[in-house]
Amino acid sequence: MTAGRPLLRLQALIASLLPLGLALTNLFQPAPALAADYNRDIVYQIFTDRFFSGRSDNDDPSQSSGLFDGSHKNWRAYWGGDLAGIKAKLDYIKGLGVTAIWISPVIDNINKADNDVTGKMVAPYHGYHARDFMRVEEHFGDPANTFADFDALIEAAHRAGLKVFVDMPFNHTSPYNHGEYGALFSSGQYRSDVENDKNKYFNHLPAVTDFNNRFQLQYHTIFYLGDLNQENSYIDTYLKIAAQKLRDHGADGTRLDAAKHTNWAWQETLSSLLYEKGDHLILGEWWMSGLDDPLYRDAVKFANRGGVSLFDFPLAMAIREAFKGKAGGDLQAVARVVSREDIDFNDSRSLLTFIDNHDLARFQSINPDPKDLHLALALLFTSRGIPIVYYGTEQYLHDDTAGGEDPYDRPWMNSFDAGSPGYTLIKSLSALRSGCPPLVLGRQETLHAAADDYVFARRAGSDCAVVALNKSRDKTLRLEGLQTGLADGVYPGKFALGGGQSELVVRDGLGRLEVAPQSLIVWAGDNCAKGKDGAAVPVIGAVRPPKVAGGTSVTVYGRGFGETQGKLTVGDETLSVSSWHDDKIVFNAPRKSLGAVRVDIATAGGVDSVPVKLFVSEGRLINVRFTCEDAPLQEGEQIFLTGNASSLGMGRTTWMDAAGPMIYSDDERKYILCVPMPAGKTVDVKMVILDRAGSVVKQESAAHKYQVPAEGSWQNNLNWQK
Ligand code: NOJ
Repeated sequence: MTAGRPLLRLQALIASLLPLGLALTNLFQPAPALAADYNRDIVYQIFTDRFFSGRSDNDDPSQSSGLFDGSHKNWRAYWGGDLAGIKAKLDYIKGLGVTAIWISPVIDNINKADNDVTGKMVAPYHGYHARDFMRVEEHFGDPANTFADFDALIEAAHRAGLKVFVDMPFNHTSPYNHGEYGALFSSGQYRSDVENDKNKYFNHLPAVTDFNNRFQLQYHTIFYLGDLNQENSYIDTYLKIAAQKLRDHGADGTRLDAAKHTNWAWQETLSSLLYEKGDHLILGEWWMSGLDDPLYRDAVKFANRGGVSLFDFPLAMAIREAFKGKAGGDLQAVARVVSREDIDFNDSRSLLTFIDNHDLARFQSINPDPKDLHLALALLFTSRGIPIVYYGTEQYLHDDTAGGEDPYDRPWMNSFDAGSPGYTLIKSLSALRSGCPPLVLGRQETLHAAADDYVFARRAGSDCAVVALNKSRDKTLRLEGLQTGLADGVYPGKFALGGGQSELVVRDGLGRLEVAPQSLIVWAGDNCAKGKDGAAVPVIGAVRPPKVAGGTSVTVYGRGFGETQGKLTVGDETLSVSSWHDDKIVFNAPRKSLGAVRVDIATAGGVDSVPVKLFVSEGRLINVRFTCEDAPLQEGEQIFLTGNASSLGMGRTTWMDAAGPMIYSDDERKYILCVPMPAGKTVDVKMVILDRAGSVVKQESAAHKYQVPAEGSWQNNLNWQK
């Protein structure tokens, strides 16, 4: 990292990018993005190359000829799907009732094949082998690598009321051991490659061998891919410009590919930059095996501080396990995940839920029974979180070769039958979810869980839905004495899948129900909890963006706020609002209450909501690497950084609030930690040592005063003050 005056460095960087037609912001005419509550979205995931071909002049473009296989025999070749193809099928997608699409990376990928061990051609048909983040891949857009088809897709999708989320592999370029050797280009101009990297644009460390080692995860390589060094000022700026470019071209959300492997703090600086211009969905791919994943807490911390909606891997794994094979798994594990995540995440309703994707065998490859697929989908759509349907699920698309794992989980979309039972089911599940507020707004509370059955309530103020799933193939589920929260009465099923209708009877406050084998039923009522004298209970559905700079605009979505202004409390401050309506309150984030703060609403009638957390930062954040060589650390202890900045926990010293833990760099033989710090501010930073239980063992006697630079990436060494 070179030192130097921030302004001069910024100017030098801009100068180096300007010949490429780039400036930091506002170069593009933003296509109007579709704002509004992302927690209400239903997403359709598209693997662009395998979906539909909208034009043929981009099948085998001259700059990368030979990577195409129109016969669809080589599963690792381009097969012809493109952005124009997605645009051509928007009516079909919209007909499912979804509100958004997530598309695989669109940026320009390498032009040369990598051959596999058998000599077979391997192409970057998936989009994860980038060469130029400033351009669109010629196989997906046009042969001149322009944004024309991307813009056309965004425009048409927005006109249809569909948001577009775009995948971005910020972690890496392409394989460094063949093909283009990880080369990086900017708008067509060569910048560097892994073997010839005099400016340190890449990390040069071996493959990750320990997937629970925080240093290896972020700085070592995966899949032999050129590992970009986000702490390098050029790469920091380059990637942020690329991200803003997609946003300015109208993307409504950005997927952080391989988030666990990309500098965690840098991604937090990126999210605040993206949120500077207003709301945007940031989807984080942090692979986890389940709640017992050793880095589960790190993932929670990353999501809460970064304002990132994580893909809900623990839930997906639990659902898949529960439905796998004839003997079945255990739905109690599903219930455990839901309860635990509800406590840990700032808003578990913003987690992205799924049952399969392009990196997992399709659901029907692990369980071919269409009835079980239907039940799993119904569980997904009635549970909290933003549900994602992987393309082709509605047509029962699956190829079970090699267990259906990558690449066989990416078959060609061979049917667009809007009358298929799967299509019809998803359409009705979308309608159910969109038309039943507790299924979007409500917390998820377990009423009963066993190996084959799971009954839960979704409560949102006075509205309540009860969902009962019985996945047994032969046993009827009969339960009584359930505390559903519904008032006494007889409730017909609002939605039923499988064995016919069944009523939910509530007497003396206790519910009785019956569910046939392989069935799921939903009941709903608007007579759950009431406030004093029957007043409506305010329900916060979402606080967006989930991470903001003090002083900037925040929207609280929900219902029951009343048309008469009540009270808004954020952290310790009662704030004035810009507007107050029954379903939406707009205010400016506080400047004093920083870090993780609670947002509370009380109606004019004095009824309180359940609070939701928001992360408030000082302003633009830059990535600062702190190092330390002399901390008096004992076995089992960890070093954290605390201090008077949002990312330092505002002086708090708990595991979740303070920044850290610092990680040991095998490479430099010292402790390091990147922290998103408030640009240009002077802050106090103090090292604190926590034991395994999270209690403070030692802390420095005095804080270090640190002047955060105005831009870029930086580093600062701390010597332990006794
Ligand atoms: C995760 C993506 O989902 C996967 O498909 C890809 O191969 C890796 N990240 C590397 O980009």
